[in-house]
Amino acid sequence: PLANWNGTQMPLSEAKVSVLDRAFLFGDAIYEVLRVYGGKPFLFDDHIARLKRNFEKLQLPADADIIAQRVRETVAASDVTEGTVYIQVTRGVAPRIHRYPTTPPTPSELIYVAHFKDPYQELRKVGARVIILEDLRWKRCDIKSVNLLANCMAAQTAYEAGCPEALLVDGEDRLIEGSRTSLFGVRDGRILTAPLGQNILPGITRKLLIQLAGECNVEISEATIHRDDLPKLDELFITGTTTEILPITQVEDQTIGDGTVGPVVSQLITAYARTIE
Ligand code: PDD
Repeated sequence: PLANWNGTQMPLSEAKVSVLDRAFLFGDAIYEVLRVYGGKPFLFDDHIARLKRNFEKLQLPADADIIAQRVRETVAASDVTEGTVYIQVTRGVAPRIHRYPTTPPTPSELIYVAHFKDPYQELRKVGARVIILEDLRWKRCDIKSVNLLANCMAAQTAYEAGCPEALLVDGEDRLIEGSRTSLFGVRDGRILTAPLGQNILPGITRKLLIQLAGECNVEISEATIHRDDLPKLDELFITGTTTEILPITQVEDQTIGDGTVGPVVSQLITAYARTIE
């Protein structure tokens, strides 16, 4: 893959980082993943805006506009037409103290572009089975930080269960989101999804989906889905940058609706495909 590391274009394998980087010591870093369709970054402004908001949340003195420019250059210089862009910005290299250094170090800035093929082309047609796990993450899941160990553990447990994703429940059995996806239900023709807050990532695909629902004249309520609601749902699906839209037809041993890919999610998958054309 082609990278831009601290402003210099190079093969990804040549990018090197110090062990005193605060990302290595503390996980003090923000990331973004976006898609490239037809050689163009998808929902680019939304991803850059979220990156900027995350810099502000962590008082990270990096310039999202400069990074955006480097992303455009790296995508253009690469041979990738269908792929992903990974962006990671850390607070930089500094002696190990917990608080942010008084004199801010220079942020370490990584961008790389890689080929990516939709892994769910077949599963999307028939729907997936997922498991439910306790949400073990911290209380600021709105921050897109690289501290993803709880997400990795959930993804691994799902993988071992033969599932593409795990849905995370809080202490009150509310379904918050997936380990790397946003969650939506459909009941009586209306879409339900958890409201934004500090317990959830404000997904860029979630935002697009709300827009697509509007264009399809499907009503949407920001209301959290409870575990007990699952038998009453007609449809369930997850969204994310790499997942796009994936119908869920079974949660553990609970069949959702009639167990087939429903009309609302089908309509949204078609609408999503139209936006990337
Ligand atoms: N997933 N929730 C979590 C916990 C995530 O990590 C992600 C992103 C999402 C979906 O957000 P978006 O639509 O902005 O990708 C929700 C990784 C980055 C992915 O899908 O590749």
